[in-house]
Amino acid sequence: MTHSSRIALVTGANRGIGRATALQLARDGADIIVTYNSHREEADAVVGEISALGRSAVALQLDVAKTSAFGSFAAAVHEVLRSRWNRETFDFLVNNGGLQVAEPLEKVTEEGFDSLVNVHFKGVFFLVQKLLPLISDQGSIVNVSSGTTRFYTPDRAIYSSVKGAVEVLTRYLAHELGPRGITVNVIAPGAVATDFSGGLLRSNEQVQKHIASVTPLGRFAVAEDIAGAITALLGDGNRFVTGQRIEVSGGIHL
Ligand SMILES: NC(=O)c1ccc[n+]([C@@H]2O[C@H](COP(=O)([O-])OP(=O)(O)OC[C@H]3O[C@@H](n4cnc5c(N)ncnc54)[C@H](OP(=O)(O)O)[C@@H]3O)[C@@H](O)[C@H]2O)c1
Repeated sequence: MTHSSRIALVTGANRGIGRATALQLARDGADIIVTYNSHREEADAVVGEISALGRSAVALQLDVAKTSAFGSFAAAVHEVLRSRWNRETFDFLVNNGGLQVAEPLEKVTEEGFDSLVNVHFKGVFFLVQKLLPLISDQGSIVNVSSGTTRFYTPDRAIYSSVKGAVEVLTRYLAHELGPRGITVNVIAPGAVATDFSGGLLRSNEQVQKHIASVTPLGRFAVAEDIAGAITALLGDGNRFVTGQRIEVSGGIHL
């Protein structure tokens, strides 16, 4: 029960890494604001699973690319904090929601480029800005980057670059929020078998074998591997860790 009586907001928590993180935090005693972009029914199912664990959860819609809606989203968060928990603030923000577009350089359109910047960088920046008054002092922010900021993966130039931007942003936020005791770190997952990239890793045995062969721990990750690291980072034992990039990849391509 290391997260007892804490409230976490996890973006993109209806499936994949976000869902696993929300469930692990709930198992550890936290209550959760689950956000989803388009799959409300999945988010409702996660809320049900968290309730079955004896914790409280609410699902809110959020498109992290739609900065114009962040004001009303923050108002909705404030409203549920008051009505559900009788609180003015929450403790942990996990910026997880996102998608990957893999395209060769010559095929990238400006629209596709902007979409990745908006989801993974601009959205994270302005969401943090809007939610800051609702994050408690001594709270924590965890951003989610990617192993591909460190090693090359074909057709991921834009995706990896915007994830790199979030890693720099993490260090700046750590500085600026340090005086409030808020820690800000970034988790960089390796290859994780989720719906990501059209579920390629989950379904393609050849890709699975290749990932295993270039990973010291000899396998690809599952969402729970990443959730465990995020949850640990949010634990009381890690209160003096801030501004750090922590890769959770089984040591892929070391
Ligand atoms: N899987 C990997 O190999 C891997 C590796 C490195 C980093 N990551 C990062 O890990 C994070 C989660 O990935 P995942 O593997 O769990 O992917 P996933 O299973 O495909 O889930 C993606 C989640 O993000 C949400 N989402 C997508 N677009 C969004 C938007 N515009 N606004 C808000 N939420 C949005 C989705 O919500 P809806 O279902 O409602 O659309 C869903 O909850 C991402 O930031 C990704 O870049 C993943």
